[in-house]
Amino acid sequence: MEDGAVNGYEMDTPKNITIKGILSLLMESIDNNNHSRSVISLGMGDPTAHSCFHTTHVAQEAVVDALQSDKFNGYAPTVGLPQTRRAIAEYLSRDLPYKLSSDDVFITSGCTQAIDVALAMLARPGANILLPRPGFPIYELCAAFRHLEVRHFDLLPEKGWEVDLDAVEALADQNTVALVIINPGNPCGNVYSYQHLKKIAETAEKLKTLVIADEVYGHLAFGRNPFVPMGVFGSIVPVLTLGSLSKRWIVPGWRLGWFVTSDPSGMFRNPKVVERIKKYFDILGGPATFIQAAVPGILELTDEVFFKRTINILKQSSDICCDRIKEIPCISCPYKPEGSMALMMKLNLSLLEDISDDIDFCFKLAREEFVIILPGTAVGLKNWLRITFAVDPVSLEEALGRVKSFCLRHSKQFERY
Ligand SMILES: Cc1ncc(COP(=O)(O)O)c(C=O)c1O
Repeated sequence: MEDGAVNGYEMDTPKNITIKGILSLLMESIDNNNHSRSVISLGMGDPTAHSCFHTTHVAQEAVVDALQSDKFNGYAPTVGLPQTRRAIAEYLSRDLPYKLSSDDVFITSGCTQAIDVALAMLARPGANILLPRPGFPIYELCAAFRHLEVRHFDLLPEKGWEVDLDAVEALADQNTVALVIINPGNPCGNVYSYQHLKKIAETAEKLKTLVIADEVYGHLAFGRNPFVPMGVFGSIVPVLTLGSLSKRWIVPGWRLGWFVTSDPSGMFRNPKVVERIKKYFDILGGPATFIQAAVPGILELTDEVFFKRTINILKQSSDICCDRIKEIPCISCPYKPEGSMALMMKLNLSLLEDISDDIDFCFKLAREEFVIILPGTAVGLKNWLRITFAVDPVSLEEALGRVKSFCLRHSKQFERY
C-alpha cells in the first residue's frame, strides 16, 4: 500500500478546514514547558469547560434513573426509541402552528449526525446545496464527502447577519437541493426575526428547494427577537429541523440529537422517502439507549429557571465581550450578539504592524498570550475572528485583556521603550 492509496486507489480526503483541526494546531503551537500562565480558550463551543455552565439535576437524574432501571441496556430501534421520538415531537410542537408526530422525528448522535443524515439524504449526482458564509464548516466537510457541490451565499453583517436573499436567488438552479440556515446563528450570534424567516421560506418555495434549519442553539436568544423555529413556515416550504440537547441543556457529550421533518404538507411522508430515511438510519448507531430513554423526563421536567439562568449568563458574557472589544483598536464587532454562544469580530490589519492575516494573528496570540481564538478563515471569513463567549466571565475578562495587550504590542502606533 502506497501513501494515501489503498488497493491502487488514491484515498481522497477533503481538504476542508475544520474548527477542531485548527484549534488543535493552535493549542499545539503553545510551548507548555515555557510558561506559567493559564491557557484560555475562546475557541471551542463547549460551555461545560466552565463551571458556571452546568446541566440541570433533572437531566442528570433522568439519565441515572434510566440507567439503573436496567431496561435500557439493549439496542434501540435504529430511528430511536418510540417514547423519545414522541417526546421530541411534543417538545418541538409547542412552538409550531401544527403538531409533529413521532414519525417525523429521527434520533441522531448529536446535531452533527443530523447534518450528515440531511446531506446524505439529499446528495445526488450534479446536485448543489446553498450554505451560509460565514457558517459551520461541518456542512462543507459533509458535502465534500458526498460530492455535493457547495454554493455560498453571504450573511450581511450590516443587516444583523441576515441572509442575502438576492444572492440565494442568483445561486439556485434546478439542481439545488436545499438552503441551510443556522438560527440562532453560529458563528455570528444572530437571531432572525419572524419576518426574515418568512422571507427565507418564501424564497426557498419560489426556488423549489427545501430549507435545512440548524436549530442546535434553539431558544438561546437574549436580544430583540425571540427564537422562532423555521418549522413555523413548514406549510410554505418543507423544512428539515436539526437540533440536539447539546447546547440548551449543556450536555454536548451526551450526543443526543434529532433530524425532524417539519413538513405539514407531507412531502417527506411519501413512503419512498420514509423508506430511504429509515434505511439510512439502519447504518447509523444513534445515542446510547439509556440517554434516549431519559429524554422524555428531561424535556418534561426541566424548569424554566434553569433555562433563564443560562440565558442570563450568556447575555452577561456577551456584554463583557462587546464592551472589551470596544477598547481594542484593531478589532470591532459590527453586531452585538443576540443569541447562541459565538460572535464574529473584524480585524483591522492596517493598524497592525507585523500581522499578515487572521491566521497569523491567532497563532501569534496563542504563542504570546496563551489565548485561543478561532480565525475567521475557518468559518469562511478571512480577516475576521470568532469568539465563543460561553466562557466564565472572569476568564473572558482576562482573555480579552490579553488580546488587548497583544494588539497594543503589535500596533503601528505602539511606542517601544
Ligand atoms: C451550528 C452547529 N450545528 C451543529 C453543531 C453540532 O451539534 P452537536 O454537538 O449536537 O453535534 C454545532 C456545534 O457546535 C453547531 O454550532
